[in-house]
Amino acid sequence: MRRGGRIKKLAAILTCAGMVFATVSCGADGSAQNDSAETVQTAEAETAETTEEGNVAEEQEAAPETGSEQETGQDAQQDPQAWEWDAADEETLRCAFAKGFGGRAGVCVPMAALSDAARMEIVKGQFNSVTMENEMKPDSLLGDKPNIGEDGFPVLSFTVPDMMMKEIKAYNDSVEKEGRKLMVRGHVLVWHSQTPEWFFHEEYNVDKPYVDQQTMLARMESYIRQVMEHYEGADSPYQGMIYAWDVVNEAVNDTDGGMRTDSSWFRVFNSSDFVEQAFVYANRYAPAHIKLFYNDYNDTNPKKADGICRLIEQIKANPEARIDGMGMQGHYDMDFSDVLFKQAAQKYAAVVDEIQITELDLKASRGFDGENTEEEYRKQAEVYKSLYDAVKSLKQEGVPITAIVFWGTDDRHSWLQSANAAGGSADGTRVQCPLLFDKDYEKKPAFWAFVDDSKLEAAE
Ligand code: GLA
Repeated sequence: MRRGGRIKKLAAILTCAGMVFATVSCGADGSAQNDSAETVQTAEAETAETTEEGNVAEEQEAAPETGSEQETGQDAQQDPQAWEWDAADEETLRCAFAKGFGGRAGVCVPMAALSDAARMEIVKGQFNSVTMENEMKPDSLLGDKPNIGEDGFPVLSFTVPDMMMKEIKAYNDSVEKEGRKLMVRGHVLVWHSQTPEWFFHEEYNVDKPYVDQQTMLARMESYIRQVMEHYEGADSPYQGMIYAWDVVNEAVNDTDGGMRTDSSWFRVFNSSDFVEQAFVYANRYAPAHIKLFYNDYNDTNPKKADGICRLIEQIKANPEARIDGMGMQGHYDMDFSDVLFKQAAQKYAAVVDEIQITELDLKASRGFDGENTEEEYRKQAEVYKSLYDAVKSLKQEGVPITAIVFWGTDDRHSWLQSANAAGGSADGTRVQCPLLFDKDYEKKPAFWAFVDDSKLEAAE
């Protein structure tokens, strides 16, 4: 019965996904992160049944020109200050960010959003960078159960993210202006979370010991190679759509800036070497136009920022590795300090070429009970304005922030509405209002903090 339900759900998703970019509503789904995670598994299960080995063989033929520059118009894509706008773009985040600090406006989108026309209107109307919420993560590509190829490595399944890539591509092909196209931030290759435990064990069996380091490195290399071949190979329809990858997520701890130890990656290596190697393999297989990022939360904490910078220095000392950017996740709260933010960004800018805020949201004030939204929205707009002022002033002093990505379109669908153990999470006991659009998809004062703060003052 469960299986039948899953098949039906997948069919509905596929139908809706195909329709939404033609702005036909399939009804609100009301889902947040957990639901979209279920969607990933649903389609994964279905893929294993319907495609067998056929599509994998085709995918593997598409080998990229590894490590080489591919001329797919990236220069124009990479320079927001060169983009042209018209009147329809005036009150949008993408136009404001291009003019305000020369960066992209990004948003996290789960598969479920594709069937929500109102949410997709916000995505298409405001942004030019998309991060998939769960669909490109290791547990999505590897699946629940290992599917081992002839070479002895897990064969990745791209069916779920590709449903999204296909829709994004169709949309991009339909818009002319460069600044309106939705470029993709790949998220994420190497992470202790949302990676199946079997990936780390002998014979891909959780009851067996961890593999040795050489075996784990070979698995990591195969994983990264398959991802890059699939998206950047000469025959890939998605070539050039991904402009950055989070190569490693959250490897540093929150106490002294050393390595996080509650991680199967760390348990296998007992050192930071796997982080360095991930950037070696990413550099080996990713074309040069894709920016390679380290990404982490609690990113304004001085000790953690120092630890991250030490790790970045280790990566940079390896001539075979490449790291271009630091992703400050930006899961902040109402105690946000623009001073600490600027200090941390300055530290990162000393070791990498660019910084992006990759998962921005704001947890509500401690006393907020969901009632006095006007007051809370006003305070929130002030905090967001202080952050945006800091971004613009950093830009003036030469600290290159190249994107601000919000972790969701609207308050209804934020991951902060439910309990989560991830860094920067909420406990699920209080209503949250972390984003720029409210639960009914209306613009909040926080939106104007980024787009036109004179409207903010007028509203006071
Ligand atoms: C971390 C990850 C994101 C997401 C959030 C919680 O920040 O990087 O992918 O899982 O946790 O939604």
